[in-house]
Amino acid sequence: MEKLKRTKISDLLKETDKDKVVNVKGWVRTKRGNKNVTFIALNDGSIIHNIQIVVEAGNIDEQILKLINTGACLSVTGTLVESFGKGQGVEIQAKEIEVYGQADPETYPLQKKGHTLEFLREIAHLRPRTNTFGAVLRIRHAMAYAIHKYFNDNGFYYLHTPIITGSDAEGAGAMFRVTTLDMDNPPRTENGQINYEEDFFGKSTNLTVSGQLEGELGALALSLIYTFGPTFRAENSNTPRHLAEFWMIEPEMAFYDITDNMDLAEDFLKYLVNYALDNCIDDLQFLNKMYDTTLIERLKGIVETKFVRLSYTEGVDILMKSGVKFEYPVKWGCDLQAEHERYLVEKHFKKPVILTDYPKEIKAFYMKLNDDGKTVRAMDVLFPNIGEIIGGSQREENFETLSKRIEELNIPTKDMWWYLETRKFGTAPHSGFGLGFERLILFVTGMLNIRDVIPFPRTPKNAEF
Ligand code: 4AD
Ligand code: MG
Repeated sequence: MEKLKRTKISDLLKETDKDKVVNVKGWVRTKRGNKNVTFIALNDGSIIHNIQIVVEAGNIDEQILKLINTGACLSVTGTLVESFGKGQGVEIQAKEIEVYGQADPETYPLQKKGHTLEFLREIAHLRPRTNTFGAVLRIRHAMAYAIHKYFNDNGFYYLHTPIITGSDAEGAGAMFRVTTLDMDNPPRTENGQINYEEDFFGKSTNLTVSGQLEGELGALALSLIYTFGPTFRAENSNTPRHLAEFWMIEPEMAFYDITDNMDLAEDFLKYLVNYALDNCIDDLQFLNKMYDTTLIERLKGIVETKFVRLSYTEGVDILMKSGVKFEYPVKWGCDLQAEHERYLVEKHFKKPVILTDYPKEIKAFYMKLNDDGKTVRAMDVLFPNIGEIIGGSQREENFETLSKRIEELNIPTKDMWWYLETRKFGTAPHSGFGLGFERLILFVTGMLNIRDVIPFPRTPKNAEF
């Protein structure tokens, strides 16, 4: 007999052609029953729902049935029939079961349901098999796909910027060094410092904190580009919103001013949230039921709401007049903390806020200086439950102004000559922003800790899996 091809559970549950023989493969979620009949809930990760396998006594060898416990992996062949069980259209009457892999009930960590998210972080190698992580990972995939689709449909080119960088000028955060030197016995210069000229690249290199600077080079040739890759920050921030390795999406657009930049950011975020509502509703309903009953309502709210746009100065005014005692007191010139951002979004406006025109001292060197000489054309998009989800700006395209700023900040120009040359040869007004992918996934899933929206989180003292 020809080998029957596996059908995914997501397809089986849509199947209208009943009474045909099918093969399904997956992992056992539960097994229950009596001496006459056994019910096995099987999940293959293609969808949040399980398919029910019904085993009537005598149809399958007792010895095989004994090997089947929660967590075991099975290949089941049987007849697809209509199910009379509540909430399921079809089930499989098993004719043949092959046990690919057993899971000892004494030691399988997911034997019982209802583990805390903290415990699941300690078994990151197995947590994708839970409903929660299945849902999060499918949504994460859908969002990655939607990001590429959005940009492709809008005429942007995907630019691959380097992971290893020889410039540490962006200043977005502390960096991880990349080296092949023998750390126990590195080559030294005459004055005793490590001689990176002997290192792999002939200079000191690090993992990138952002693809932006190279992204700008692309935009000043292809007009509209985006990057989507991993970025690394060696900061010791143990918060529910920070990772040491996270993914960032950075569009960069020639001929866009800050208003065009804000329009794009708002349209992009609404598209992504709407895409999740249209394509991930089963998973969203699960998360809405189990974790946050306002999730779907909040997502719909974003799609329908016009984001508030206001300047940093106006924002600080509102915070100072609020009468709220913040942990970090607010005054003009201070960097805004998550508590300030969230007050504006969640308490004051109850809408996403795009804050612009920050003091130049608290923003990066490349942001375009306003005519007041004090503020720069920065824009941060602030979201409910998240705080900053996007950071971006119009870029300084004037060679003299940019050079002066680099000098003021003591950024070594030997690392920056290539960046400055774009302002020397055919410079153009341009803008861009960075969306933190995991912050987006936090928002879309309603999860509260960024460690729970990436398969293998990298945080201080944590790189086990
Ligand atoms: O605001 P940031 O640091 O901006 C940049 O890196 C610019 N080069 C972006 C650009 O204009 N092209 O980071 C951008 C976004 C933040 O708004 C936040 O969503 C996310 O990246 N982010 C982090 N996400 C997780 N863990 C961290 N440690 C993050 N740091 C920033
Ligand atoms: Mg930022």
